[in-house]
Amino acid sequence: MNIASLSTDQAPPISVPLRFFAVAPLFLVLAALMLAMSDGNPFAAAQTPALLAATHCITLGFMAMVMMGATQQILPVVIGSPLPASRWVAWLTSVPLGAGALSLCGGFMSGNARLFNLAWPLLGVAFLVFIIAAMLSLWRATAKNVTKTAILLSICALAAAVTLGILLARGFATGTALDYAALSVAHITMALGGWVMLLIVGVSYQVVPMFQITPAYPKWLSAVLAPALFAILLLNLALLLTGAEQTWIAAAGISFWLLAVCFALVTLKLQSQRRRKVADATLNFFRLGMVSLLLAALLWLVALLLPAFDMPLRLLSAIAFIAGFAMSLIQGMLYKIVPFLVWFHLFRGGVNAVKVGIPNMKEVIPERLMWWHLRLHGGTLLVALLAPWWNPAAWLAALGLLLQGILLGYAVFTGIAVYRRTLRRIELLAV
Ligand code: HEM
Repeated sequence: MNIASLSTDQAPPISVPLRFFAVAPLFLVLAALMLAMSDGNPFAAAQTPALLAATHCITLGFMAMVMMGATQQILPVVIGSPLPASRWVAWLTSVPLGAGALSLCGGFMSGNARLFNLAWPLLGVAFLVFIIAAMLSLWRATAKNVTKTAILLSICALAAAVTLGILLARGFATGTALDYAALSVAHITMALGGWVMLLIVGVSYQVVPMFQITPAYPKWLSAVLAPALFAILLLNLALLLTGAEQTWIAAAGISFWLLAVCFALVTLKLQSQRRRKVADATLNFFRLGMVSLLLAALLWLVALLLPAFDMPLRLLSAIAFIAGFAMSLIQGMLYKIVPFLVWFHLFRGGVNAVKVGIPNMKEVIPERLMWWHLRLHGGTLLVALLAPWWNPAAWLAALGLLLQGILLGYAVFTGIAVYRRTLRRIELLAV
């Protein structure tokens, strides 16, 4: 692993990213409980209250929690520009994000307007603080690289997605007459296609070659992919909000998915060229993610050809994207980032750290646990894809999510325990 290109001296305290990673698995457990509390099969339609609540437990409580924590680590280390007041930013994003996600999900489950009215200001504060801090860090950064561009564009997409989400949630609370269908599609597109996709693209440019020891992404792809995806999303947003013809909206959608397919195929090809051919659970999380992205694209494109099956096919495409693509990659990255952070922050202990003998990255979280998680995650994804048609699969998907939350939480806390134990030994040696 080559970390020479990283500005490791700029890294924030380990407590900054770890607090986000420690809370996130709890929201997988909550998502499972929301699905289990549904009256009937929550996957039977796209917008059942339990599915909306579980979706936001996953997208806000889990994905946004991890991605915001990881960005607060990546910006200083990869771009070389620390976030201003990193500890304050960590508190002012993690706490309102957690509380806002809980109230929003409570609002979806109960339909209670007060919960929506509590959720949107809390989420507004969390995302506003994060977006301002991240933009300041990007603005101050002198480094120019493709990851910086992709992260910048992903944050712009996040700002749009959150604004639309807040409009919708406020509209739910006040009963304001809005074009909910168009706003909802615009919100989902900017959140998933914009923020999630662009951030994963930007981070992959660094993580895939560094952790998976592959060749770098080809320049023809890394230079144009993120700006092209963003331009298509902006065009799509304008078309949706101005009520343009479906043909144009479909054309923008097709262009987006073709670029996504290109990204997935290039990543899979790079992984097949990796220099160390040892079996690795995190690499397989990544591969599952890329195959799921291809599946999400296929389902979306087939939905265009078969309008009679539009709703279930688009729901399956969203499941493949969120549970298959985004969750696989985020979990795979967590299993790399947590051991890396533990090792790296202990390594900074200097001479005493060498004397105590710090664990290497493979010893922080047992590899066996990661393989079990991978199998469980693959099984959960499979049953979730069957859930719209087969009721027992919906309950199995909820059970899978519950077990994944427990397993991931255990893994993260194992990493934290290793860090604390070794640090204590280093400190004892120093006195
Ligand atoms: C401030 C934060 C957010 C708020 C207030 C919010 C609010 C909402 C609301 C009210 C809906 C229902 C739309 C409708 O049915 O008319 C919705 C749908 C949705 N949102 Fe969000 N959202 C937020 C952030 C996000 C993020 C960050 C993501 C993804 C990364 C996301 C993904 C989705 C998805 C996939 C749906 C459709 C769910 C389904 O149809 O079952 N949201 N959101």
